[in-house]
Amino acid sequence: MSISRRTILKYSSLGGAAVATAGLPRFAIGGTAKIKVGVMLPFTGTYAALGEQGINGLKLALAGQGNKLGGREVEIVTLDDESDPSRAPANATKLIKGDNVDLLYGTVHSGVVMGMVKVARETETLLVIPNAGAAAATGAMCAPNIFRTSFSNWQPAFPMGKVAYDKGYRTAVTMTWKYGAGTESVDAFKEAFEAAGGKVVKEILVPFPDVEFQANLADIANTKADVVYVFFAGGGAVKFVKDYASAGLRKTIPLVGAGFLTEGTLAAQGEAAEGLLTTLHYADGLDLPANRKFRAEYKKAYGKEADLYGVQAYDAGMLLVTGFGAVKGDTAAKADLYSAMGRTVLDSPRGAISFSAAHNPVQDIYLREVRKGENVVVGIAGKAVTDPARGCKMGA
Ligand code: BEZ
Repeated sequence: MSISRRTILKYSSLGGAAVATAGLPRFAIGGTAKIKVGVMLPFTGTYAALGEQGINGLKLALAGQGNKLGGREVEIVTLDDESDPSRAPANATKLIKGDNVDLLYGTVHSGVVMGMVKVARETETLLVIPNAGAAAATGAMCAPNIFRTSFSNWQPAFPMGKVAYDKGYRTAVTMTWKYGAGTESVDAFKEAFEAAGGKVVKEILVPFPDVEFQANLADIANTKADVVYVFFAGGGAVKFVKDYASAGLRKTIPLVGAGFLTEGTLAAQGEAAEGLLTTLHYADGLDLPANRKFRAEYKKAYGKEADLYGVQAYDAGMLLVTGFGAVKGDTAAKADLYSAMGRTVLDSPRGAISFSAAHNPVQDIYLREVRKGENVVVGIAGKAVTDPARGCKMGA
């Protein structure tokens, strides 16, 4: 064997190029090198609670495997991305070039994830997205090394358009933060609502992450529309739902939304959220063995209830477990790794999910109603919903 230990070490964090020189997996030095996971999540700001579930779910999945992927120990390096898109490329680059991580995991915010997508594409680093729904990540910017275990912004929003029309609403106001997730969500609602015969009469955008909604609520009252559709999440969702109720609008214009509006927020929203209808790919009370097991384990590990963001993170961990298991921890076996990940079917707490050719989950979307402080499933708004993956050339 002519390859030296120094040579192997030199290439141990540089991807697959060195491997061909010896036919050795790059972790062959006694099989002890750890797989380093670079985590970017918001641990502060309006999405802080989502970031906490995002790391907890990942760690829970890994803990169930003795903190190993394909037989190799895992080391996690975390970074607070603060939901700041302007710093995302630099942060992702720091994890890859500074901390020598083998893969990127993150994040919550659609703008931040697009910075991660850019860097992942340029450096050919595996990226697993546990929340951010930016269409382009599994659309125009899709790539073999990019996977998402959550949703596209289109997926939970589109089915609500038909639900709202079928409830008899004919005119709608939409309101959201002015950034990718918000605009993609309200656009998807509008697409379905207007295709059914409804009309969106007003579209309100507020800067992210502002929570001063009073002037807009007065505007909404004046439109006298049949329904209001919104995208808000985290701390902003808590504030919006409470303000909407305080303004007395619950009595005059029904409020609906993508399920983030009432996800992980109900304790803080209290009475103000009762009766809200939302569409999402999860509900706490889903009566499935995988959900019961996940929720019990999460509660035991962290002393609090899991929500959707924990589920998506857990599934991201399980996707990595499957992929790295298939290649026995060989980070250089990229084609085999991505192919195994793409073929994975997960017994998710949300119900079974598979992955589209663009590497986005194919999943049911539930219609939920808040009853006594819980998102209760009252129907299926979409069966095996697949994102249109507009612009994705993979698998075409
Ligand atoms: C997003 O930015 O993609 C996002 C953030 C919170 C909840 C859902 C989507």
